[in-house]
Amino acid sequence: MSTAFDRYEEPSPWSTASDAFGPGDPELTRRQLLLASSGVLAAAGLSPVPAAAAAGSGRAEPTAAVRLRVNGRPVELEVDLRQSLLDVLREKLALTGTKKGCNQGACGACTVLLDGRRINACLTLAAMHDGAEITTVEGLAQGEQLHPLQAAFIEHEGFQCGYCTAGQLMSGVACIREGHAGSADEVRAWMSGNICRCGAYPGIVEAIVEVGKERSS
Ligand code: FES
Ligand code: FES
Repeated sequence: MSTAFDRYEEPSPWSTASDAFGPGDPELTRRQLLLASSGVLAAAGLSPVPAAAAAGSGRAEPTAAVRLRVNGRPVELEVDLRQSLLDVLREKLALTGTKKGCNQGACGACTVLLDGRRINACLTLAAMHDGAEITTVEGLAQGEQLHPLQAAFIEHEGFQCGYCTAGQLMSGVACIREGHAGSADEVRAWMSGNICRCGAYPGIVEAIVEVGKERSS
């Protein structure tokens, strides 16, 4: 018998910000059901979570109010001081395009742009970034219009497992902006923090070099 849980899907690297923040699909995903049942979706609706969210523990958790701009939208929320930016994006804002791979800075799956610079979101605390501008993979496309690097990934078959794709895209966008996409060797060197062990890597590198050349011409 099919249940609401059967409809669960991880947002793809092509998901847009409105998929996470807006009402979106009228059918609740499994993640949304879980988040709703824990009260977390209230935060994704941009309203702060009560300070001592650990109901019933009788112990106030250390929290801080943080204002961010995420994919161009202002967000105000109360975060646990110990919470990584990655966990806040995924669990409080339902922006699950950013992936948790190693959770220790070794794989790059969690790469996002923070004030325009790439960063491993698993290695930094959300509370440290009050006032920051954050771009996740959901913020790359403009509505239905893919970012040129997303389009190039498709053209060059630069995705396979998909798990690394969001981090590769975000790091690739930054690599191009930094002017480090002049050749395949340069891209490999400057993308070395983003691990891919499948057959997609040559396509990823080709896509970044191609878009880098277009941007510099
Ligand atoms: S999940 Fe952050 S670097 Fe692997
Ligand atoms: S895209 Fe994930 S291992 Fe290659």
